[in-house]
Amino acid sequence: MKSRVITVDGPSGVGKGTVCGHLANRLGWHLLDSGSLYRLTGLAVRQDHGEFNNPSACALTARSLDVRFENQSGLRVFLSGDEVTQAIRTEQAGQDASVVAAIPEVRAALLDWQHQALRGPGLIADGRDMGTVVFPDAGLKLYLDASCEERARRRYNQLRETDKTVTLATVLKDLQARDDRDSSREAAPLKPAADARVLDTSALTLVDMLALIDDWVDEYLGS
Ligand code: C5P
Repeated sequence: MKSRVITVDGPSGVGKGTVCGHLANRLGWHLLDSGSLYRLTGLAVRQDHGEFNNPSACALTARSLDVRFENQSGLRVFLSGDEVTQAIRTEQAGQDASVVAAIPEVRAALLDWQHQALRGPGLIADGRDMGTVVFPDAGLKLYLDASCEERARRRYNQLRETDKTVTLATVLKDLQARDDRDSSREAAPLKPAADARVLDTSALTLVDMLALIDDWVDEYLGS
């Protein structure tokens, strides 16, 4: 039987979150935001011991994460009882996440969490290695891409709404650093699965991007 999983991979700031939220709503399927697990691990490492260079200590932190998700008018996230919904969304948390994400033992520790997210009627899985490593048998694999400049511009516009001090140059620099780390690491590097449908979204409006993806999804579900 075909597994009911749609994976959405791609680099930071490409719009995966928007696409996944849209698909989960439209289909009434569950949503896995795998990046939040790496962000939670990064935050826990920073709070507990700060030893980002110590793979065993980071893996131990990942294995013993005390996380709770609550869904009341939006998803709220708790780490060891404290709400961290905003704290895991900062640029620092993104950088910390990509540092711990390069450690193979951390990735292994988070694999079970991700597999447990697979429940009926289906799952939309958002990440970097959803199609290559976590759900290699997914029925439909999407890989979204866009130039670094375009992704930085999108992220900058988003951040400006809450932080007027942010600059485009800093956002671009942070994004490049994260891209480099995510693509060059040995463990599950960022790359499209061989059977993924790759979409360059640089020149697409959000409406056009969602319409195209909806067509692909309908084609998959009808097949
Ligand atoms: O997607 P998000 O920006 O929340 O991810 C934060 C970081 O977590 C990424 O830059 C990447 O290093 C890591 N990550 C990963 N594999 C995933 C999801 C996220 O390595 N499946």
